[in-house]
Amino acid sequence: MKIAMVGTGYVGLVTGTCFADSGNRVTCVDINAAKIADLNAGKIPIYEPGLEELVVRNSEAGRLKFTTDLAAAVKDAELVYLGVGTPQGDDGAADLSALWAVVDGLAPHLKPDAAVVIKSTVPVGTNAETFARLREKTGRDCHVASNPEFLKEGAAIDDFMKPDRVVVGVRDPQVGEKLRLLYAPFLRTEKPFLVMSPESAELTKYVANAMLATKISFINTMANLTEKLGGDINDVRRGIGHDSRIGFAFLFPGVGYGGSCFPKDVRALEAMFERAGIDPVMLKAVDVINEAQKRTLLDKMTEFYEGQFAGKTFAIWGLAFKPRTDDIREAPALVLIDNLLAAGAKLRVHDPEAADNVRAIYGDKLTYCDQPLETLDGADALAINTEWAEFRQPDMNDVKRRLNAPVIFDGRNLYDRGLMQELGFTYYSIGRQT
Ligand code: UGA
Repeated sequence: MKIAMVGTGYVGLVTGTCFADSGNRVTCVDINAAKIADLNAGKIPIYEPGLEELVVRNSEAGRLKFTTDLAAAVKDAELVYLGVGTPQGDDGAADLSALWAVVDGLAPHLKPDAAVVIKSTVPVGTNAETFARLREKTGRDCHVASNPEFLKEGAAIDDFMKPDRVVVGVRDPQVGEKLRLLYAPFLRTEKPFLVMSPESAELTKYVANAMLATKISFINTMANLTEKLGGDINDVRRGIGHDSRIGFAFLFPGVGYGGSCFPKDVRALEAMFERAGIDPVMLKAVDVINEAQKRTLLDKMTEFYEGQFAGKTFAIWGLAFKPRTDDIREAPALVLIDNLLAAGAKLRVHDPEAADNVRAIYGDKLTYCDQPLETLDGADALAINTEWAEFRQPDMNDVKRRLNAPVIFDGRNLYDRGLMQELGFTYYSIGRQT
Protein backbone atom coordinates (compact mmCIF):
# COMPACT_ATOMS: atom_id res chain seq x y z
CA MET A 1 0.00 0.00 0.00
CA LYS A 2 1.05 3.60 -0.47
CA ILE A 3 0.98 5.38 2.85
CA ALA A 4 1.62 8.98 3.90
CA MET A 5 2.62 9.31 7.55
CA VAL A 6 2.24 12.88 8.78
CA GLY A 7 4.29 13.70 11.90
CA THR A 8 7.67 12.11 12.61
CA GLY A 9 7.55 12.14 16.41
CA TYR A 10 7.75 8.95 18.41
CA VAL A 11 4.53 7.39 17.19
CA GLY A 12 4.71 8.64 13.60
CA LEU A 13 8.29 7.60 13.00
CA VAL A 14 7.88 4.15 14.52
CA THR A 15 4.56 3.53 12.74
CA GLY A 16 5.82 4.73 9.35
CA THR A 17 9.03 2.73 9.63
CA CYS A 18 7.30 -0.47 10.71
CA PHE A 19 4.73 -0.21 7.90
CA ALA A 20 7.60 0.24 5.44
CA ASP A 21 9.32 -2.80 6.93
CA SER A 22 6.28 -4.96 6.17
CA GLY A 23 6.56 -4.01 2.49
CA ASN A 24 4.49 -0.82 2.13
CA ARG A 25 5.72 2.35 0.47
CA VAL A 26 5.70 5.00 3.14
CA THR A 27 6.39 8.72 2.88
CA CYS A 28 6.86 10.41 6.24
CA VAL A 29 6.06 14.12 6.35
CA ASP A 30 7.06 16.75 8.89
CA ILE A 31 7.11 20.55 8.88
CA ASN A 32 10.48 20.49 10.66
CA ALA A 33 12.93 20.68 7.73
CA ALA A 34 16.01 20.04 9.89
CA LYS A 35 14.47 16.84 11.22
CA ILE A 36 13.59 15.66 7.72
CA ALA A 37 17.14 16.42 6.52
CA ASP A 38 18.52 14.38 9.44
CA LEU A 39 16.17 11.48 8.75
CA ASN A 40 17.15 11.51 5.07
CA ALA A 41 20.76 11.25 6.24
CA GLY A 42 19.85 8.27 8.45
CA LYS A 43 20.03 10.32 11.67
CA ILE A 44 17.27 9.56 14.18
CA PRO A 45 16.06 12.43 16.38
CA ILE A 46 15.22 10.20 19.37
CA TYR A 47 16.83 7.30 21.19
CA GLU A 48 14.79 4.17 20.58
CA PRO A 49 16.43 0.74 20.48
CA GLY A 50 16.34 -0.80 16.97
CA LEU A 51 14.75 2.20 15.24
CA GLU A 52 17.82 3.59 13.48
CA GLU A 53 18.70 0.27 11.90
CA LEU A 54 15.13 -0.13 10.65
CA VAL A 55 14.99 3.41 9.24
CA VAL A 56 18.26 2.95 7.38
CA ARG A 57 17.31 -0.49 6.03
CA ASN A 58 13.93 0.63 4.70
CA SER A 59 15.26 3.92 3.33
CA GLU A 60 17.96 2.01 1.44
CA ALA A 61 15.32 -0.35 0.08
CA GLY A 62 13.43 2.69 -1.25
CA ARG A 63 10.29 1.91 0.76
CA LEU A 64 10.68 4.73 3.29
CA LYS A 65 10.99 8.39 2.34
CA PHE A 66 11.04 11.62 4.30
CA THR A 67 9.79 14.96 3.04
CA THR A 68 8.36 18.31 4.11
CA ASP A 69 6.02 18.29 1.10
CA LEU A 70 2.60 17.31 2.45
CA ALA A 71 0.82 17.70 -0.88
CA ALA A 72 3.22 15.40 -2.73
CA ALA A 73 2.99 12.71 -0.03
CA VAL A 74 -0.80 12.81 0.15
CA LYS A 75 -1.65 12.89 -3.54
CA ASP A 76 -0.76 9.21 -4.25
CA ALA A 77 -1.54 7.81 -0.81
CA GLU A 78 -4.28 5.25 -0.17
CA LEU A 79 -3.89 5.80 3.55
CA VAL A 80 -2.94 9.11 5.15
CA TYR A 81 -1.88 8.45 8.73
CA LEU A 82 -1.87 11.37 11.18
CA GLY A 83 0.69 11.10 13.97
CA VAL A 84 1.18 14.74 14.91
CA GLY A 85 1.55 15.84 18.52
CA THR A 86 -1.49 16.59 20.67
CA PRO A 87 0.14 18.27 23.69
CA GLN A 88 -1.64 19.38 26.82
CA GLY A 89 -3.32 22.77 26.36
CA ASP A 90 -3.64 25.42 29.07
CA ASP A 91 -6.98 23.99 30.24
CA GLY A 92 -5.66 20.41 30.52
CA ALA A 93 -7.46 19.34 27.33
CA ALA A 94 -5.46 18.14 24.31
CA ASP A 95 -4.31 20.93 21.99
CA LEU A 96 -5.36 19.89 18.48
CA SER A 97 -4.03 22.89 16.56
CA ALA A 98 -1.29 20.85 14.81
CA LEU A 99 -3.85 18.23 13.79
CA TRP A 100 -6.25 20.79 12.29
CA ALA A 101 -3.44 22.47 10.38
CA VAL A 102 -2.58 19.13 8.79
CA VAL A 103 -6.21 18.21 8.04
CA ASP A 104 -6.72 21.57 6.30
CA GLY A 105 -3.43 21.20 4.44
CA LEU A 106 -4.08 17.69 3.16
CA ALA A 107 -7.75 18.13 2.16
CA PRO A 108 -7.18 19.50 -1.38
CA HIS A 109 -4.78 16.63 -2.19
CA LEU A 110 -6.66 13.64 -0.77
CA LYS A 111 -7.61 10.95 -3.33
CA PRO A 112 -11.38 10.29 -3.34
CA ASP A 113 -11.06 6.68 -2.13
CA ALA A 114 -8.21 7.33 0.34
CA ALA A 115 -8.70 7.09 4.09
CA VAL A 116 -7.36 9.45 6.70
CA VAL A 117 -6.32 7.42 9.76
CA ILE A 118 -5.85 9.18 13.09
CA LYS A 119 -2.97 7.65 15.05
CA SER A 120 -2.43 10.60 17.40
CA THR A 121 -4.09 10.40 20.80
CA VAL A 122 -7.15 12.61 20.40
CA PRO A 123 -10.25 13.32 22.49
CA VAL A 124 -13.48 11.55 21.71
CA GLY A 125 -15.26 13.35 18.89
CA THR A 126 -12.09 14.31 16.98
CA ASN A 127 -12.74 11.68 14.32
CA ALA A 128 -16.25 13.05 13.75
CA GLU A 129 -14.90 16.59 13.69
CA THR A 130 -12.23 15.59 11.15
CA PHE A 131 -14.92 13.96 9.00
CA ALA A 132 -17.01 17.16 9.11
CA ARG A 133 -14.02 19.36 8.41
CA LEU A 134 -12.95 17.29 5.41
CA ARG A 135 -16.51 17.36 4.04
CA GLU A 136 -16.48 21.13 4.31
CA LYS A 137 -13.09 21.42 2.59
CA THR A 138 -13.58 18.80 -0.15
CA GLY A 139 -17.36 18.91 -0.69
CA ARG A 140 -17.58 15.09 -0.29
CA ASP A 141 -17.66 12.41 2.42
CA CYS A 142 -14.09 11.22 3.11
CA HIS A 143 -13.09 8.09 4.97
CA VAL A 144 -11.76 8.88 8.45
CA ALA A 145 -10.62 6.05 10.72
CA SER A 146 -9.14 6.01 14.23
CA ASN A 147 -6.28 3.66 15.03
CA PRO A 148 -4.84 4.42 18.49
CA GLU A 149 -1.31 3.35 19.32
CA PHE A 150 -0.30 1.48 22.47
CA LEU A 151 3.49 1.33 22.08
CA LYS A 152 5.85 2.08 24.95
CA GLU A 153 8.97 4.22 24.59
CA GLY A 154 12.06 2.05 24.83
CA ALA A 155 10.17 -0.98 23.49
CA ALA A 156 8.38 0.77 20.64
CA ILE A 157 9.52 -1.42 17.73
CA ASP A 158 8.74 -4.63 19.56
CA ASP A 159 5.37 -3.32 20.72
CA PHE A 160 4.49 -2.27 17.18
CA MET A 161 5.69 -5.50 15.56
CA LYS A 162 4.02 -7.71 18.19
CA PRO A 163 1.01 -5.81 19.52
CA ASP A 164 -1.30 -7.32 22.17
CA ARG A 165 -4.16 -6.07 20.02
CA VAL A 166 -4.91 -3.61 17.24
CA VAL A 167 -7.88 -1.30 17.66
CA VAL A 168 -9.54 0.51 14.76
CA GLY A 169 -12.59 2.74 14.74
CA VAL A 170 -14.36 3.04 11.36
CA ARG A 171 -17.66 4.12 9.84
CA ASP A 172 -17.20 2.10 6.66
CA PRO A 173 -16.45 -1.65 7.09
CA GLN A 174 -14.36 -1.58 3.90
CA VAL A 175 -11.87 0.75 5.53
CA GLY A 176 -11.76 -1.70 8.46
CA GLU A 177 -10.88 -4.50 6.01
CA LYS A 178 -8.12 -2.43 4.42
CA LEU A 179 -6.59 -1.77 7.83
CA ARG A 180 -6.92 -5.45 8.73
CA LEU A 181 -4.80 -6.30 5.67
CA LEU A 182 -2.26 -3.63 6.61
CA TYR A 183 -1.87 -5.11 10.09
CA ALA A 184 -2.01 -8.79 9.07
CA PRO A 185 1.82 -9.16 9.05
CA PHE A 186 1.93 -7.97 12.68
CA LEU A 187 -0.87 -10.22 13.94
CA ARG A 188 0.45 -13.61 12.95
CA THR A 189 0.35 -14.77 16.56
CA GLU A 190 -3.45 -14.62 16.53
CA LYS A 191 -3.67 -11.41 18.53
CA PRO A 192 -7.02 -9.68 17.97
CA PHE A 193 -7.84 -7.00 15.41
CA LEU A 194 -10.73 -5.14 17.01
CA VAL A 195 -13.11 -3.09 14.86
CA MET A 196 -15.39 -0.62 16.62
CA SER A 197 -16.86 2.86 16.26
CA PRO A 198 -14.47 5.83 16.02
CA GLU A 199 -15.67 7.08 19.44
CA SER A 200 -14.97 3.73 21.13
CA ALA A 201 -11.52 3.56 19.54
CA GLU A 202 -10.69 7.10 20.66
CA LEU A 203 -11.86 6.35 24.17
CA THR A 204 -9.99 3.02 24.35
CA LYS A 205 -6.66 4.80 24.17
CA TYR A 206 -7.41 7.14 27.07
CA VAL A 207 -9.05 4.46 29.17
CA ALA A 208 -6.03 2.17 28.74
CA ASN A 209 -3.56 4.87 29.81
CA ALA A 210 -5.80 6.05 32.66
CA MET A 211 -6.11 2.47 33.94
CA LEU A 212 -2.34 2.00 33.89
CA ALA A 213 -1.75 5.37 35.59
CA THR A 214 -4.37 4.43 38.20
CA LYS A 215 -2.55 1.17 38.96
CA ILE A 216 0.66 3.11 39.56
CA SER A 217 -0.96 5.73 41.80
CA PHE A 218 -2.80 2.93 43.64
CA ILE A 219 0.35 1.00 44.48
CA ASN A 220 2.25 4.19 45.34
CA THR A 221 -0.42 5.30 47.78
CA MET A 222 -0.40 1.83 49.39
CA ALA A 223 3.40 1.98 49.56
CA ASN A 224 3.19 5.21 51.51
CA LEU A 225 0.87 3.52 54.01
CA THR A 226 3.14 0.46 54.29
CA GLU A 227 6.05 2.74 55.10
CA LYS A 228 4.13 4.23 58.04
CA LEU A 229 2.43 1.08 59.35
CA GLY A 230 5.33 -1.34 58.97
CA GLY A 231 5.76 -4.07 56.35
CA ASP A 232 7.19 -4.21 52.88
CA ILE A 233 5.19 -3.20 49.80
CA ASN A 234 7.08 -5.79 47.71
CA ASP A 235 5.69 -8.55 49.91
CA VAL A 236 2.22 -7.02 49.73
CA ARG A 237 2.58 -6.80 45.94
CA ARG A 238 3.42 -10.50 45.79
CA GLY A 239 0.59 -11.24 48.17
CA ILE A 240 -1.98 -9.59 45.92
CA GLY A 241 -0.42 -10.37 42.52
CA HIS A 242 -0.98 -14.11 42.74
CA ASP A 243 -4.70 -13.40 42.69
CA SER A 244 -5.25 -13.82 38.95
CA ARG A 245 -7.84 -11.04 39.01
CA ILE A 246 -5.13 -8.61 40.14
CA GLY A 247 -1.83 -9.81 38.60
CA PHE A 248 1.64 -8.28 38.88
CA ALA A 249 1.94 -5.96 35.89
CA PHE A 250 2.28 -2.22 36.42
CA LEU A 251 2.13 -2.45 40.17
CA PHE A 252 5.73 -1.48 40.90
CA PRO A 253 5.90 1.40 43.37
CA GLY A 254 8.31 4.19 42.53
CA VAL A 255 8.78 7.92 42.20
CA GLY A 256 5.60 8.39 40.14
CA TYR A 257 4.87 8.13 36.44
CA GLY A 258 6.23 10.64 33.94
CA GLY A 259 6.67 10.78 30.18
CA SER A 260 4.72 12.33 27.38
CA CYS A 261 1.63 10.15 27.73
CA PHE A 262 0.24 9.30 31.17
CA PRO A 263 0.29 12.81 32.71
CA LYS A 264 -1.15 14.42 29.58
CA ASP A 265 -3.72 11.70 28.86
CA VAL A 266 -5.02 11.54 32.44
CA ARG A 267 -5.56 15.31 32.37
CA ALA A 268 -7.15 15.23 28.92
CA LEU A 269 -9.55 12.52 30.10
CA GLU A 270 -10.32 14.64 33.16
CA ALA A 271 -11.21 17.49 30.79
CA MET A 272 -13.51 15.14 28.83
CA PHE A 273 -15.30 14.18 32.07
CA GLU A 274 -15.74 17.82 32.96
CA ARG A 275 -17.11 18.64 29.54
CA ALA A 276 -19.53 15.74 29.95
CA GLY A 277 -20.70 17.21 33.29
CA ILE A 278 -19.20 14.42 35.44
CA ASP A 279 -16.77 15.17 38.26
CA PRO A 280 -13.58 13.21 37.49
CA VAL A 281 -12.89 12.50 41.18
CA MET A 282 -10.90 9.36 40.56
CA LEU A 283 -8.66 10.78 37.84
CA LYS A 284 -8.01 13.91 39.92
CA ALA A 285 -6.84 11.66 42.74
CA VAL A 286 -4.57 9.68 40.38
CA ASP A 287 -2.96 12.94 39.25
CA VAL A 288 -2.64 14.46 42.73
CA ILE A 289 -1.13 11.24 44.16
CA ASN A 290 1.36 11.15 41.30
CA GLU A 291 2.46 14.77 41.72
CA ALA A 292 3.04 14.08 45.43
CA GLN A 293 4.90 10.85 44.63
CA LYS A 294 7.34 12.76 42.42
CA ARG A 295 8.45 14.49 45.63
CA THR A 296 8.87 11.32 47.66
CA LEU A 297 12.69 11.16 47.46
CA LEU A 298 12.89 14.88 48.21
CA ASP A 299 10.62 14.41 51.26
CA LYS A 300 12.76 11.56 52.57
CA MET A 301 15.93 13.58 52.03
CA THR A 302 14.39 16.65 53.66
CA GLU A 303 13.57 14.59 56.74
CA PHE A 304 17.01 12.97 56.87
CA TYR A 305 18.94 16.24 56.45
CA GLU A 306 16.37 18.28 58.40
CA GLY A 307 16.01 20.51 55.35
CA GLN A 308 19.69 21.54 55.42
CA PHE A 309 20.96 20.98 51.88
CA ALA A 310 23.33 23.93 51.49
CA GLY A 311 26.92 22.74 51.12
CA LYS A 312 25.82 19.13 50.49
CA THR A 313 26.62 17.19 47.33
CA PHE A 314 24.33 14.47 46.00
CA ALA A 315 24.79 11.82 43.33
CA ILE A 316 21.75 11.21 41.14
CA TRP A 317 21.33 8.07 39.03
CA GLY A 318 18.66 8.12 36.36
CA LEU A 319 17.23 11.26 34.77
CA ALA A 320 14.91 9.86 32.09
CA PHE A 321 11.33 9.13 33.18
CA LYS A 322 12.05 5.42 32.75
CA PRO A 323 14.85 3.18 31.45
CA ARG A 324 15.75 2.70 27.76
CA THR A 325 14.73 6.19 26.71
CA ASP A 326 16.31 9.64 26.63
CA ASP A 327 12.92 11.25 27.32
CA ILE A 328 12.83 13.56 30.33
CA ARG A 329 9.34 14.99 29.81
CA GLU A 330 7.57 15.14 33.20
CA ALA A 331 10.42 13.05 34.64
CA PRO A 332 10.35 12.79 38.45
CA ALA A 333 14.13 13.39 38.47
CA LEU A 334 13.52 17.01 37.41
CA VAL A 335 11.43 17.68 40.53
CA LEU A 336 14.27 16.39 42.69
CA ILE A 337 16.91 18.36 40.78
CA ASP A 338 14.93 21.64 40.85
CA ASN A 339 14.31 21.45 44.59
CA LEU A 340 17.79 20.34 45.61
CA LEU A 341 19.41 23.05 43.46
CA ALA A 342 17.07 25.69 44.90
CA ALA A 343 18.04 24.54 48.41
CA GLY A 344 21.73 25.04 47.63
CA ALA A 345 22.90 21.46 47.04
CA LYS A 346 25.48 20.45 44.43
CA LEU A 347 24.47 17.61 42.13
CA ARG A 348 26.54 15.00 40.27
CA VAL A 349 24.28 13.23 37.78
CA HIS A 350 24.37 10.24 35.45
CA ASP A 351 21.97 8.77 32.92
CA PRO A 352 22.97 6.39 30.10
CA GLU A 353 20.94 8.30 27.48
CA ALA A 354 19.19 11.38 28.87
CA ALA A 355 22.14 13.50 30.05
CA ASP A 356 22.19 15.68 26.91
CA ASN A 357 18.51 16.54 27.28
CA VAL A 358 19.09 17.45 30.93
CA ARG A 359 22.14 19.52 30.01
CA ALA A 360 19.95 21.49 27.58
CA ILE A 361 17.87 22.64 30.58
CA TYR A 362 20.36 22.96 33.43
CA GLY A 363 23.64 23.66 31.61
CA ASP A 364 26.58 23.81 33.99
CA LYS A 365 24.43 23.96 37.13
CA LEU A 366 24.96 20.18 37.33
CA THR A 367 28.07 18.01 37.10
CA TYR A 368 27.56 15.33 34.44
CA CYS A 369 29.42 12.05 34.89
CA ASP A 370 29.92 9.42 32.18
CA GLN A 371 29.94 6.56 34.67
CA PRO A 372 27.47 5.96 37.52
CA LEU A 373 30.22 5.24 40.06
CA GLU A 374 31.99 8.50 39.21
CA THR A 375 28.96 10.49 40.48
CA LEU A 376 29.59 9.12 43.97
CA ASP A 377 33.03 10.65 44.47
CA GLY A 378 32.64 13.20 47.24
CA ALA A 379 28.84 12.91 47.37
CA ASP A 380 26.97 12.82 50.68
CA ALA A 381 24.34 10.39 49.40
CA LEU A 382 23.02 8.68 46.27
CA ALA A 383 19.46 9.18 44.98
CA ILE A 384 18.03 6.83 42.31
CA ASN A 385 15.13 7.81 40.03
CA THR A 386 15.23 5.34 37.15
CA GLU A 387 15.74 1.57 37.13
CA TRP A 388 18.29 1.36 34.30
CA ALA A 389 19.71 -2.20 34.26
CA GLU A 390 23.23 -0.97 34.98
CA PHE A 391 22.15 0.44 38.37
CA ARG A 392 20.90 -2.91 39.63
CA GLN A 393 24.12 -4.56 40.76
CA PRO A 394 26.88 -2.05 41.42
CA ASP A 395 29.83 -3.08 43.55
CA MET A 396 28.33 -1.92 46.84
CA ASN A 397 31.70 -1.86 48.58
CA ASP A 398 32.93 0.55 45.92
CA VAL A 399 29.73 2.60 46.29
CA LYS A 400 30.38 2.83 50.02
CA ARG A 401 34.03 3.70 49.60
CA ARG A 402 33.30 6.55 47.20
CA LEU A 403 30.41 8.19 49.09
CA ASN A 404 31.15 10.57 51.99
CA ALA A 405 28.51 8.67 53.97
CA PRO A 406 26.79 5.35 53.14
CA VAL A 407 23.33 6.77 52.46
CA ILE A 408 21.06 5.79 49.56
CA PHE A 409 17.59 7.08 48.63
CA ASP A 410 16.27 4.49 46.20
CA GLY A 411 13.14 5.51 44.29
CA ARG A 412 12.83 2.15 42.50
CA ASN A 413 13.45 -0.49 45.19
CA LEU A 414 16.47 -1.89 43.39
CA TYR A 415 18.27 -3.47 46.33
CA ASP A 416 17.73 -6.05 49.03
CA ARG A 417 17.06 -4.26 52.32
CA GLY A 418 18.71 -6.92 54.50
CA LEU A 419 21.85 -6.87 52.40
CA MET A 420 22.03 -3.08 52.49
CA GLN A 421 21.75 -3.18 56.27
CA GLU A 422 24.49 -5.80 56.52
CA LEU A 423 26.74 -3.60 54.37
CA GLY A 424 26.11 -0.70 56.75
CA PHE A 425 24.03 1.54 54.46
CA THR A 426 21.28 3.85 55.60
CA TYR A 427 18.87 2.74 52.92
CA TYR A 428 15.64 4.54 52.13
CA SER A 429 13.34 2.96 49.54
CA ILE A 430 9.64 3.03 48.61
CA GLY A 431 7.04 1.35 50.80
CA ARG A 432 9.65 -0.45 52.89
CA GLN A 433 11.21 0.16 56.27
CA THR A 434 14.52 1.99 56.46
C1 UGA B 1 2.61 4.51 27.99
C2 UGA B 1 1.79 3.19 27.84
O1 UGA B 1 2.38 2.14 28.59
C3 UGA B 1 1.70 2.79 26.37
O2 UGA B 1 0.87 1.64 26.24
C4 UGA B 1 1.12 3.95 25.57
O3 UGA B 1 1.05 3.65 24.19
C5 UGA B 1 1.99 5.19 25.76
O4 UGA B 1 2.04 5.52 27.16
C6 UGA B 1 1.37 6.30 24.96
O5 UGA B 1 0.26 6.73 25.28
O6 UGA B 1 1.93 6.68 23.93
P1 UGA B 1 5.23 5.11 28.08
O7 UGA B 1 4.79 6.47 28.49
O8 UGA B 1 6.25 4.95 27.02
O9 UGA B 1 3.95 4.24 27.59
O10 UGA B 1 5.82 4.44 29.38
P2 UGA B 1 5.49 3.24 30.39
O11 UGA B 1 6.45 2.15 30.18
O12 UGA B 1 4.06 2.89 30.34
O13 UGA B 1 5.84 3.95 31.78
C7 UGA B 1 5.14 5.10 32.22
C8 UGA B 1 5.59 5.53 33.58
O14 UGA B 1 5.05 4.67 34.58
C9 UGA B 1 7.10 5.55 33.82
O15 UGA B 1 7.43 6.76 34.49
C10 UGA B 1 7.34 4.34 34.71
O16 UGA B 1 8.45 4.51 35.53
C11 UGA B 1 6.05 4.31 35.51
N1 UGA B 1 5.73 2.98 36.06
C12 UGA B 1 5.38 1.96 35.24
C13 UGA B 1 5.75 2.78 37.43
O17 UGA B 1 6.07 3.69 38.23
N2 UGA B 1 5.41 1.55 37.94
C14 UGA B 1 5.05 0.52 37.13
O18 UGA B 1 4.74 -0.59 37.66
C15 UGA B 1 5.05 0.72 35.75
